[in-house]
Amino acid sequence: MSENNDAHINTMENAIHIFEDADSWSTVMLLYNSALKKINIKLEILNDEFQHAHQYNPIEHVKTRLKSAESIVRKLKRRGYESTTENMVKYVNDIAGVRVICSFTSDIYRIADMLASQSDIHVLFIKDYIKNPKESGYKSYHMIVTVPIYLSNGAVETKVEIQIRTVAMDFWATLEHKINYKFFDNVPEHIKRDLRSCAEMVSDLDAKMMDLNEQVRSL
Ligand code: GTP
Ligand code: MG
Repeated sequence: MSENNDAHINTMENAIHIFEDADSWSTVMLLYNSALKKINIKLEILNDEFQHAHQYNPIEHVKTRLKSAESIVRKLKRRGYESTTENMVKYVNDIAGVRVICSFTSDIYRIADMLASQSDIHVLFIKDYIKNPKESGYKSYHMIVTVPIYLSNGAVETKVEIQIRTVAMDFWATLEHKINYKFFDNVPEHIKRDLRSCAEMVSDLDAKMMDLNEQVRSL
């Protein structure tokens, strides 16, 4: 370590220059991959604790993925940035991605709050597409956070995008994503309309299922 000896915890931008012995691409990918593991374990522990305390699992399943090099380069290019490691750690927030699928909308906020309150998680920003759905009908709760990753010569605050949504929201988003892909993002108006109407049905279903679950739990 050089000039950052006092700080102990570094930003990713600094980390690139600190780990001089390895190439910066593999260093940042190692950090992102470690951050995915760390968030995954945190979610597993929260779910186990919920099972233990309330005999109930708020999380259906968790998916993690590292963004591919091609898709990182494509995103930087689309936004007018050169493909450098500096730009990627600065401008691409979803290189490490975690998707948390829950049963009920209430679980989403519960999990988000529990993560946000952990002292080693720093929330950079939140996009609540459940309270403010996208024009397409897309609903999901997004958090961009950092977690410190401790390597042999220092710790680095590493960014992770966490998407939290219900099974029904995920079902919708998966189909919509496939449709966008098939039409190269030029989806015909009538299909867009049908998707928006499906998104409304998804919201109704989520509300009814949550209500039903609460009724049953109160019996
Ligand atoms: P990107 O550059 O697309 O990552 O978007 P952003 O930085 O403006 O963030 P945003 O929160 O809009 O999107 C982040 C991620 O959420 C995307 O990469 C998708 O995985 C997902 N997402 C956002 N909008 C939609 C949508 O309309 N449909 C689907 N299926 N997924 C979406
Ligand atoms: Mg996107």
